[in-house]
Amino acid sequence: MSIESSCDDSSIAITRIKDKRLIFHKKISQEEEHSVYGGVVPELAARLHALALPKILEEAKDFFKELKAVAVTNEPGLSVSLVEGVVMAKALCVSLSLPLLPINHLKGHIYSLFLEEKTKFPMDILLVSGGHTEILHVHSYDEIQILATTLDDSFGESFDKVAKMLGLGYPGGPIVEQYAKQGDCLRFNFTIPLQNSLKLAFSYSGLKNQVRLKIEKQQNLDKKTKADICASFQKTAVAHLMQKLNKVYKSKEIKNFGVVGGASANLYLREKLERFCKEKKIVLQMAPLKYCSDNAAMIGRCAVDAYNLGKFKEINSVEILPRSKEFFTNV
Ligand code: KG4
Ligand code: ZN
Repeated sequence: MSIESSCDDSSIAITRIKDKRLIFHKKISQEEEHSVYGGVVPELAARLHALALPKILEEAKDFFKELKAVAVTNEPGLSVSLVEGVVMAKALCVSLSLPLLPINHLKGHIYSLFLEEKTKFPMDILLVSGGHTEILHVHSYDEIQILATTLDDSFGESFDKVAKMLGLGYPGGPIVEQYAKQGDCLRFNFTIPLQNSLKLAFSYSGLKNQVRLKIEKQQNLDKKTKADICASFQKTAVAHLMQKLNKVYKSKEIKNFGVVGGASANLYLREKLERFCKEKKIVLQMAPLKYCSDNAAMIGRCAVDAYNLGKFKEINSVEILPRSKEFFTNV
């Protein structure tokens, strides 16, 4: 059994160890409750997890007697959210005499690729979520190197902030993408971040500020203007990712490339990645759309590998780690 509660999604899954198949999966999202505030309110998230997780667990209770281990996301994420899942996992381990497997949320995202397809390590991964923008080299379960990361805001976060500035609601990613579809991406000229820098890094706070200044200048922020801003912003945000990917893979050869994380649901980004991989003859694997955002299915799939590698941890030694940069070996 796997439990995920690192941000604003409460989710539980059951994965069969033998064939790595998902046999139960339920998720209760809190998007609606947070949307009135234009972002995730941690205390509200914690309270909603405390209501939702026991509800889902009740539905999974027929599987209790067959369980072999309990896995839970313990890093990184909002501390008050993580703790809800971790406390539940620990209580289950004690009452059902089961071993505990703490799982890193980012590793969970990587494993979303292997819910419907076979593992393809070694592979490079673009991870784009609300908290992270990273290019990773994944050699195995334990060997993950960061090739590039963000200096400030993440890709997904910049969509959330643009949506908030335009009064479009939360989560911003899907809304900005929808508006962008109707807009003219050439109307506003935003500068691609770090385009003259040799740094293999991302930066989204400057782009966010460019958008803010443009919004402040508008006399009439009608629907058409909002759509044009979204389209122009999305084009620049994705161009920044693609420029850095081009830089990384100018000299480095890879066979397999994957894209994961909540923001990997963006179809405009997917199209650009498809073209890029086709040109470079790289095999591209994209997280199934239904498993891009946070879910316990990906945590469960990751936990099967953790189980097979014997990554059990003593209950009292498992802590929540809101930030876990040191998890990956930086290069
Ligand atoms: O992975 P995720 O569900 O949660 C974190 O681990 O952070 O990612 C959520 C992020 C949010 O910032 C959301 O706005 C963004 O992913 N996102 C998108 C899209 N769908 C979700 N960003 C751009 N385009 C989308 N279609
Ligand atoms: Zn996530």
